[in-house]
Amino acid sequence: MVQSTRTSSATLPCFFFSHGSTAMLGERSAPAAYWEQVGRQALAEGVERIVIMGAHWESLDDQIMISANPKPEKQPVAWVDPAKYVDFDLNPDVEFASTVQQMLLKAGFNAKLEPKFEQIHDTFMILKWMFPGGKSLPHVVVGHNARFDPHFHMRVGAALRPLRDQKCLLIGSGGAVHNLYRNAWAQALFYRDSYGQERPPEPWAIDFGNAFSDVVTKNSGHALRRGMARLMTHPLYRDAQGTDDHFMSALFIAGAAGDEADAGIRNYAGAECWELLNMRNSQFQFGSWPSEPHVTPVYQENRLNHTTPL
Ligand SMILES: [Fe+2]
Repeated sequence: MVQSTRTSSATLPCFFFSHGSTAMLGERSAPAAYWEQVGRQALAEGVERIVIMGAHWESLDDQIMISANPKPEKQPVAWVDPAKYVDFDLNPDVEFASTVQQMLLKAGFNAKLEPKFEQIHDTFMILKWMFPGGKSLPHVVVGHNARFDPHFHMRVGAALRPLRDQKCLLIGSGGAVHNLYRNAWAQALFYRDSYGQERPPEPWAIDFGNAFSDVVTKNSGHALRRGMARLMTHPLYRDAQGTDDHFMSALFIAGAAGDEADAGIRNYAGAECWELLNMRNSQFQFGSWPSEPHVTPVYQENRLNHTTPL
C-alpha cells in the first residue's frame, strides 16, 4: 500500500537519466552538460546525498539490493580511457545505505545490503559528470529486480519518496530508447564514434521516444505511474527496450514522483542526444527545484562555458 505524503516547497525534484553507451562516459555530450548542471543545482540547493537506481545491477527472486561497500571497485569500461574515471571519488554513503534498507524493509521489501558491490558505469558515469570537481556527493546505489515487475519498482520509488523532503536527490539511470540489438555498431567498431548519425533514426525509435516523453511531460500524480507502467504494453516497447533492465529505473522514478501529492506538478524533458543510430538518450526532470532556476536549463551546445539556455 502506497502512503500519500505531503509535498512542500522544499521537496526536491527527481530525475531520470538515459546514460547511453560507454562513450557517454568518455566523451562530453549534451546530456553530460545537463548532468553537470543538475549537480551544480544540487549543491546550490544544499542536497546532502543521492540515491540512484541503475540498470546494470539486478537481483533475483524477490530481492532488492543496496550498495554497502565503503570502497567499491569501478568495473572497467569498454572503449574508455581509464584515466577518465579511475580517480573519481565515488564517496559511497554506507551509513545511509542502512537507512534506505530500513525504509524498504518497512515497506515490505526483501531489501539486502551488498558489502561486495562493484560500481558499474551506469551510475558512476552520471556522478562523474554531475561532479566535475572529482568527488561525488555521498550516494547509495539501489539495484533493480530481475522479475522486471513495473509495479514492484514503482513501489520501491514510492517507499523512498519521503527522502525528497530530506535533502536527498533520487535518480534513475536507464534508457528511454535503449535496444543494443538494434543499434548500428559499425561506426563504433571501426571509428570509435557513437555520436555520428549516418542517417535518421528508425521510426520506432523516434515514436517510442516521443511516447515516453509524452507520458512524462503530460501526466502527473498517479496518472504518471499508470502511464509509465502502460508503456511496457506499448506496441513499440520491445523494439525500444531490447531487455527490460534499462526501463526499471524509470518506473522507480515514476513511483517517487507520482504520488497523489504530486498531482498537478509539472515534469520536464531535458537534454538528449542520439547514439549509434537508434539509441535515444533523453533526460527528464520530475517536479521543480525549490529555488531558481526551478527547471534545470538545457543548453544549446555542450561546451564547457555554456551561457545561453534554450
Ligand atoms: Fe546501460
